[in-house]
Amino acid sequence: MSGAPTDLVAALAALRAEAEAQIRAAAERDGLQRLRTEFLGRKAGRVTAVLRDLPALAIEARKAVGQAANEAKAAIETLLDEAEAALAARERAAGVDLTMPSRLSFQGAVHPVTRVADEVCDIFRELGFTRVTGPEAETERNNFTALNFPPGHPALDLHDTMYLGPGVLMRTHTSPVQVRVMGAYRPPIRVTIPGLCYRRDAWDASHAPVFTQVEGLAVDEGVSFVDLKAAIGFFARRFFAPGVKVRFRPSFFPFTEPSAEVDVECQICGGSGCPVCKGTGWSEIMGAGMVDPAVFEAVGLDAERYTGYAFGMGMERITMQRHGLHDIRVLYDADVRLHAQFVRGR
Ligand code: PHE
Repeated sequence: MSGAPTDLVAALAALRAEAEAQIRAAAERDGLQRLRTEFLGRKAGRVTAVLRDLPALAIEARKAVGQAANEAKAAIETLLDEAEAALAARERAAGVDLTMPSRLSFQGAVHPVTRVADEVCDIFRELGFTRVTGPEAETERNNFTALNFPPGHPALDLHDTMYLGPGVLMRTHTSPVQVRVMGAYRPPIRVTIPGLCYRRDAWDASHAPVFTQVEGLAVDEGVSFVDLKAAIGFFARRFFAPGVKVRFRPSFFPFTEPSAEVDVECQICGGSGCPVCKGTGWSEIMGAGMVDPAVFEAVGLDAERYTGYAFGMGMERITMQRHGLHDIRVLYDADVRLHAQFVRGR
C-alpha cells in the first residue's frame, strides 16, 4: 500500500467503518467468520495488509499509521466477538445451544429373539452350562451322519436342507455342535449352543426358513432322564412362571433314545386353546432326549461309561409365547414399531 500517512489513517478509519457496518448486518456464524478472515486474516486480511506496509514508512508516519491500524484491528476484533456472543445468546434463548453435547437421535435394540436366547443361556448357566457356538455352514457328517441319521433319511432330502455343495450344507439344527463339542472336550460336559438354523421351509405364521435354536448338552457318568426333566422344569419355571405346566411326549430323533417333545401350557390363551397353539392349549418348545450311544461312538466317547441328555429349543416359539405374538413373521419383517419396544431402558 502506498500514499501519505494521513491517507492511510483515513483509509483505516474507512475500513473500520465498513467492517462495523458489515458485522452489524451479518446474521449468522458463517458470515461473521468470513468477515473475520476478510479484515483480520493473517495472509490476505485488509487491516493486516496496512500493517505489512509499515516498514516502508518514515519512522514518525510508521508510529501514527501503526497505532491507527492496531486500534482498527482491536476494534474490529471486539465487534466480531460481541456479535458472536450475541448470536450465541439469541440461539440459546431460542432453545438452541450449539455447544451442548448432542443427544442420541437413534438407538438400536437387541432383537427380541436374541434377548430371549441370551436369557435361556443365562438360566442354564445357573445349572453350570457354558455357552459355546459353532458354524452355520456345516458338513453333512456333523449335521447328519455322526448324529445317527441313516442314509436316505428324509431330512437329508433337498427339500429340507439347503446344500452349499457336495457334503456341505447350512445346518438344519444346532445339534451338529454337539458333535464338535464332544469331539473336542472330555466329560463332564455342560453346554448351551445358541444359533441360527436353516431349512427349506416357506414362510407362514409358524414357520421360518431361518430360525434360532438353543441346544443343550450334558454328558457325564450317571446322567439320567430325571436330570433332563429336572433341568427343563427348572428352566420353564424360571423363564415362564413358577407354576407353569410342562409335559413330555414320547417322540423320535435319530440321535437321542429315548426321545421326547416338550410342551408348555400355551401362555397366550392360558391353555384354553387359540390359533397359536392350534386349539390344543399346549405349545411345543423343544425336542429332547438321552444321547444315543451311536453318537458317543461316532465322536469316540465310551458309551459304557458315559450317559447324557440333549435338547434343542426353538427361540422364536418361546419369544412368541413370551410376548403374545400370533405370527412368527413379525419377528423378521424389520418393522421399527416392534423393535422400538425393545430399545434398552424402555
Ligand atoms: N435337533 C432337533 C431338532 O432340530 C432337536 C433336538 C435336539 C432333539 C437335541 C433332541 C435332542 O428338531
